[in-house]
This record gives sequence, C-alpha cells and structure tokens, in this order.
Amino acid sequence: MIIPSTALQDKRVVLGVTGSISCYKAVEVASTLAQLGVHVNAVLTESAGQFLSPLTFQAVTGRPAYGASALWGQEAHILHTQLAREADVLAIVPATAHFLAAHASGQANSLLLVTALATECPLLVVPAMDGGMWRHPATQANVDLLRSRGVDFLGPASGHLASGQVGIGRLVEPDCIVAHIRALLGQKGPLQGCKVVVTAGGTREPLDPVRFLGNRSSGKQGLALAQAARDRGAFVTLITAVSVPEETADEVMAVDTAQEMQAAVTQSCTDADVLVMAAAVADFRPASPEVQKIKKDRGTPSFTLIPNPDILASLQSLHAATGRPSIRVGFAAETEDLRQNSQRKLESKGLDLLVANDVGKDDIGFGSDYNAALILERSGKIFEVPRSPKFVLAERVLDRIEVLIAERKV
Ligand code: PMT
Repeated sequence: MIIPSTALQDKRVVLGVTGSISCYKAVEVASTLAQLGVHVNAVLTESAGQFLSPLTFQAVTGRPAYGASALWGQEAHILHTQLAREADVLAIVPATAHFLAAHASGQANSLLLVTALATECPLLVVPAMDGGMWRHPATQANVDLLRSRGVDFLGPASGHLASGQVGIGRLVEPDCIVAHIRALLGQKGPLQGCKVVVTAGGTREPLDPVRFLGNRSSGKQGLALAQAARDRGAFVTLITAVSVPEETADEVMAVDTAQEMQAAVTQSCTDADVLVMAAAVADFRPASPEVQKIKKDRGTPSFTLIPNPDILASLQSLHAATGRPSIRVGFAAETEDLRQNSQRKLESKGLDLLVANDVGKDDIGFGSDYNAALILERSGKIFEVPRSPKFVLAERVLDRIEVLIAERKV
C-alpha cells in the first residue's frame, strides 16, 4: 500500500536507469513516485536504451526523460549540472556491474555518469546482475569503495534471475525501492534524530489454536502515522498486529496479542521520543485458551474473560522513571460522548495528546481509508480534523507532535 504525503510534493528525484533486463521495473518506480507528487527525471544509459526509451518514462512521469544522446543535446544549458544541482536524491535503478565500475573509477563519459559525479545529493544504488558478476572480487571492491564514499546500497535480492538461475542478483522489488527513496527524501526532515514508536492493527486473543477474539482494525491509520513520521525523518518502529511489508518502517515488530504488544512497546519505548498507540487493543482475553482445536460435537463452548494490561497506562511508570517516551499519544475509539469520554482517557492514561474518533460511523474509522477526529491536548487545546484520508489525519497528528517536541526543548 502506497501512502501519499504532502512532504513529498515537489521533491526531485533523478532516476538513473542502466542496461539490465530488470530495468522495466524502474518504470513502476518512476510511476509510483510521480503519483506521490515527486518530480522524476529519468536518465537512461545507452544500454538501457536497448530495453526502453526515454519516452516510456516521460509518459509515466509527465517530466522530461533523457537518453544517452542528451549529453550533447540542446535541452538545457548544461544538462548534467542542472540535473545534479536540482536533485534531492539520485537513484540508480537498476545499477549494472558496469555502472558500479565506471562510477567507482570516476568515469564521466555518459549523461548518467557525469550527473552522478557532479551531484552532492544522496546517491542510492540498486544493483541487478548475474550472481557471479555480483560476487566477483572486482564488483565487490567497487561496492566497498562506493560505500566508503557514502553511497547507499539496496540489494541485490535473491530469487529468480533472467538467466533462469536462482540466486543473488535480482533487483529489489519496486515498492521497497520507493520506500527507500522516500526515506532518503525525508531524512533531513523536522523529526530527524527522533525515534517514534507506532502501534497498528487489532490484537488477536486466542480461543484455541485456530480461533481468536479480534476486532475490525485494519492497521491503515497506524501505517499512515508510521509513514508520516518516516517522511519527516524519524526513525520509526512499527509494532503491528496486521501483516505489513518489511519496508513499511525502519523496524517492524509483528505481534498478535495485547500481552505481546505490551512487551514490544515497553522494550521499544526505553529509548523512544514518541509513542503513538493507534492499535485497537483487546481489553479482555480468554482466561484459558484451549490447547487443541475446539470440536463442534462438544457443544457450545463458554469462555471466562480476564482483563488485558492497559499498555498506555502501564507506561506511566517508565515515563516517571526515565522521561521516556517523552510524548505519549493515544487514540480513543468511541461510539458516544466522544469528547467527554476521550477527555477522561487522556487524563487517566497520562497522555500528552489524544486522537478521538467516532467508530460508530460507517464512512470513517475501522477499515475505512478515511477518518475524522478531535485532537485533544493535555494543555486543553482541541483541534478538529474533518473527514479526510487517513494520511491527512496522520499529518495533522504529526504537526501537533512536532509542536509539543519544540515546546519541550524550549
Ligand atoms: O486500523 P484502522 O482500520 O485504520 O482503524 C483505526 C482505528 C479506528 C483502530 C484507530 O483510529 C483507533 O481508534 N485506535 C484506537 C482503538 C482503541 O483501542 O481505542 P480505545 O478507546 O479502546 O483505547 C484508548 C487507547 O488506549 C488507544 O490508544 C489504545 O491503543 C490504548 N489501549 C487500549 C487498551 C489496552 N488494553 N491498552 C491500551 O494501551
């Protein structure tokens, strides 16, 4: 799932494409970035031009794309210095062994190579090649040299290769590449240096090995918060009860039950600056889940429920002892008396900020792509966010967190 962000609007990425069969996947990377509002200019090497044309990239990005001949073309005063100067990130997708060797030795005989030499922005290299070429000492020496100069590498992955073999050398998947480029675009953002822990999804309390007590949380709101924090430069730990791709956060911890979530949150919060609990945590769990699958012929089963720990409330002692996490944010899922019930939760759980959403409505909240909320602060301030996509609510919550962090520093 690709989550939009206002932080990405008008950022500039130069996408260098070199001649590997996997370069068709660079089209998806370009298209996704463009849909997110990023300005993407593709630069193809001569060999990439054997597989694709600049027009392919121009069509999906709506921006000029350049082939090898553009080095001597009329498009700009000095095209490579313009591309190099304007880029926020230069990403080489895919990068061949030849590109690594040429750039490591400082060669400058193509538009892409001169742009890579001239730029001072972060350089991301996503290699794709035959496994033998990747493992060759010459390639590995080039990788080491480029890494020592601060070049960021992603992959290669292992799997099916164009040669028909299975092994290392495969291009990392487009979604993962986009997530990496996003992280680089956001790294100097206002939350740079902050660790933000976000919880997402509904916990599952086992009744037996195959059944559980759960709720309708999809994790969408939590994921939107994690992405928004990452787009602002935070190191994000996502503790999730729904399954998500690894690249969703800097660190992903998968949990099922409220007790597992409590253990993960407590461990992660010892050095966290911010905790945002968007997860829907079960307040009760079966006292004695069955060890074997419950058989229908045993009749209707009955369960005794016992209370789960209140994770947010339990963190008050960690906060009192260590000051961590500095900012604690809860969500309140209410179906009546939204404001009063939420104010009570803000106080009883010792929170800095509470996002109150009405989960009795069909078109927002659980499972929906939209939400609406009141943001209540300990100071008494209240902000209303009307029905909007979940990423918008996430951005408004992050705006308030930024203000609170700034106030704490004064
Ligand atoms: O996941 P989505 O489909 O996108 O839906 C989003 C959402 C509706 C789940 C989300 O916006 C939301 O409201 N999350 C909080 C749900 C909830 O558990 O609310 P609550 O009012 O029961 O709990 C209040 C706060 O205490 C929450 O931050 C909760 O994470 C936390 N809590 C609750 C119970 C518990 N045992 N420990 C807790 O820490």
